[in-house]
Amino acid sequence: DDAQVRELVESKLATIPDFPEPGVLFRDLTPVFADGPAFHALAEALTAPFAGRFDVLAGVEARGFLLAGAASALCGAGVLPVRKAGKLPRAVLREEYDLEYGTAALEVHEGELPPGSRVLIVDDVLATGGTVGAAARLVERAGWTVAGVSVAIELEALGGRGMLAGRYDVHSVLRY
Ligand code: PRP
Repeated sequence: DDAQVRELVESKLATIPDFPEPGVLFRDLTPVFADGPAFHALAEALTAPFAGRFDVLAGVEARGFLLAGAASALCGAGVLPVRKAGKLPRAVLREEYDLEYGTAALEVHEGELPPGSRVLIVDDVLATGGTVGAAARLVERAGWTVAGVSVAIELEALGGRGMLAGRYDVHSVLRY
């Protein structure tokens, strides 16, 4: 059940103080990715609440790719790679979002999915919500619909859910 999945994933998660800067407690999923049963359970837990409500998983570069790819293999949905700017070779849609210092941009190929496709957005961490918010705007501008947002870890103090709630169904496996 959900509690068992949380316990398994949490038992592998690494927590690093003062990374990447003093005062930040970094949640590192790499030991979860390295453990077959924990990674499998996490990938399943990302899509289970949305069963029957999505056609494609959108994975956000870079760690979202691992999660969307693994979940895709388990549930049979395709993957839409939401890439950092400048990587995709055909005509793209681009959305900028705010970082702590400056801005970044995400892109998808226009026309990559059939119109009206139901897209579940997957990422490793929901912090301020800037990244997932940009991914959601891309999906909507492209003529698809956002089936929901599913993340491994939600950092509640950073307010991402508040930024997205009301508009999107937000699910997190672990919350801190
Ligand atoms: C991290 C993380 C999320 C995002 C969350 O990505 O993987 O995508 O930040 O933060 P937000 O909710 O405040 O937008 P990062 O830009 O470090 O990219 P990476 O996965 O390529 O390392």
